[in-house]
Amino acid sequence: MTHVMHSARLVVQNLSTAFPTEDGLVRSVSDVSFSIQPGKTTALVGESGSGKSVTSLTLMRLLARTANAQVSGQTRFVTRAGQAVDLLKLSDREMRRLRGNELAMIFQEPMTSLNPVFSVGEQIAESVRLHKGLDRTAALAHAKRMLDLVEIPAAAQRIHEYPHQLSGGMRQRVMIALAMACDPTLLIADEPTTALDVTIQAQILVLMRRLQAETGMSILFITHNLGVVAHHADDVVVMYAGRVVESAPVRPLFATPEHPYTQGLLACLPGKAHAAGQPRPKRLFAIRGQVSSPLSPPPGCAFEPRCDRATALCRQAMPALIVTGAARQARCVQVSALAVPRAA
Ligand SMILES: Nc1ncnc2c1ncn2[C@@H]1O[C@H](COP(=O)(O)OP(=O)(O)OP(=O)(O)O)[C@@H](O)[C@H]1O
Ligand SMILES: [Mg+2]
Repeated sequence: MTHVMHSARLVVQNLSTAFPTEDGLVRSVSDVSFSIQPGKTTALVGESGSGKSVTSLTLMRLLARTANAQVSGQTRFVTRAGQAVDLLKLSDREMRRLRGNELAMIFQEPMTSLNPVFSVGEQIAESVRLHKGLDRTAALAHAKRMLDLVEIPAAAQRIHEYPHQLSGGMRQRVMIALAMACDPTLLIADEPTTALDVTIQAQILVLMRRLQAETGMSILFITHNLGVVAHHADDVVVMYAGRVVESAPVRPLFATPEHPYTQGLLACLPGKAHAAGQPRPKRLFAIRGQVSSPLSPPPGCAFEPRCDRATALCRQAMPALIVTGAARQARCVQVSALAVPRAA
């Protein structure tokens, strides 16, 4: 372990996760690299099956043991005390401690992660009792403060209610309260609002932004919706078929998307396709075709079968992820590498 100053909260390098199955090795995540700065949000974007959840579960070491996952790569997570650790190499015990004090995760469907037989107050209190060593009364008082923090009205009464008595939006707030109770430096939010209707979705995202501003936590925000990314992320990583196809700070990504897949995702957004002074299309663009099976990837670029700009070159070999600008990378034979001035 080393001490680091002024660096990313988390750096992920060449992360790969594969599952042996009866049909062969499923390569869900291949050679994925990205970082998350302190107090900032990195969004992981891609359509269903692109490997977003497997990436987050691998980092949190929450993959089911029975899946026999083959994991490789390195990470560097910097704790609030400034210690750098590799999440993939910590012992189970060290990892549990980190999950209680530094790392928290919220999921798409809060019902599956809340215990139906305990009141929401008891669940939050139990978690802070374990992690902060508070007694029962102090823990319950802390639980009520957490429910206030996530803007649950009448927290003093709600604390005694059971998960099934709450609306979807309220349950998601309880999940966030539970995650915040351990005062995380990194919150991984896997599709935290997908199951909610649009107005509630917006409220939850604003709440997460507020908590981030107040606590300085970093967020890994997983979503298939590029629309919410524009307002809620600092850096964006676009995944396709288990690989990073483009990564960039949020503004340049939206202004000049480089990979045809990112361009397609952006063109799918309502009100985005006509952004550059072009006429609004009659109907929303959708990317044709489907993502190929991780068991039988095409030999070249994984997106080639769906790409309107594909040429013979794209079928020959998987394009490398190349640096295309300041903090920008793309995996496409048609993007040009950033010209690096040569030393004389
Ligand atoms: N335990 C496992 N065994 C075999 N394959 C798996 C396992 N877990 C995930 N996969 C496969 O890995 C790929 C990536 O799955 P993942 O859940 O990460 O996708 P995702 O990007 O989170 O999609 P979604 O947007 O639907 O949540 C999928 O093809 C999935 O079927
Ligand atoms: Mg997922």
